[in-house]
Amino acid sequence: MNKSVKVAVLVSGGGTNLQAIIDAKKSGIIKSADIALVISSNENAYALVRAKENNIPAAVISKKEFKTETEARIIKELESYNIDLIVLAGYMQILSEGFTKRFRDRIINIHPSLIPAFCGDGFYGLRVHEAALERGVKVTGATVHFVNEITDGGRIILQKAVKVLENDTPQTLQKRVMQLAEWKILPQAIEKISKNILKEGKKG
Ligand code: GRF
Repeated sequence: MNKSVKVAVLVSGGGTNLQAIIDAKKSGIIKSADIALVISSNENAYALVRAKENNIPAAVISKKEFKTETEARIIKELESYNIDLIVLAGYMQILSEGFTKRFRDRIINIHPSLIPAFCGDGFYGLRVHEAALERGVKVTGATVHFVNEITDGGRIILQKAVKVLENDTPQTLQKRVMQLAEWKILPQAIEKISKNILKEGKKG
């Protein structure tokens, strides 16, 4: 049996979490998985540049071109690369219940708060940090969780806390949560889940 889990990273934007995964593979933090594919919902995502720079196959699959059959196209791409684990890293497209059920316990997501705080419909990107500052929390952070049919509702895998500073703006808080939490726990979660997949012998 192949000793490495094949990971597809789904992106829509800058790809700093993708970069953290790439760097973690190079540094040996990720041993049990390889990034086999990047799928972007946005043809202009800088994440695609990062994939190209690291010779990772990439595809752009967006509602604009494929409307109803977007998910069918994604599934076709995942199957052609024998993907075992799907990582949502700033992926802005909503996945259907059918899709999340088809890949149950094989899709993980990074969310920029300590779930169950500041999550669910409408909580993404800067909005999450604006809400944290509005509420006046002293600690926030990031969460990696399994993806199911409930937005940000799947089982929690890893979390990491980050202090909120007096003079934080949504932008400074977002940056620190990415640097100190997201970019650390997403690669760690990939390694943790991939080791389990290999142990269970459930590789595709
Ligand atoms: C990150 O803040 C992540 O928490 C959220 O979307 C952003 C993605 O950033 N899900 P990047 O594309 O990985 O730089």
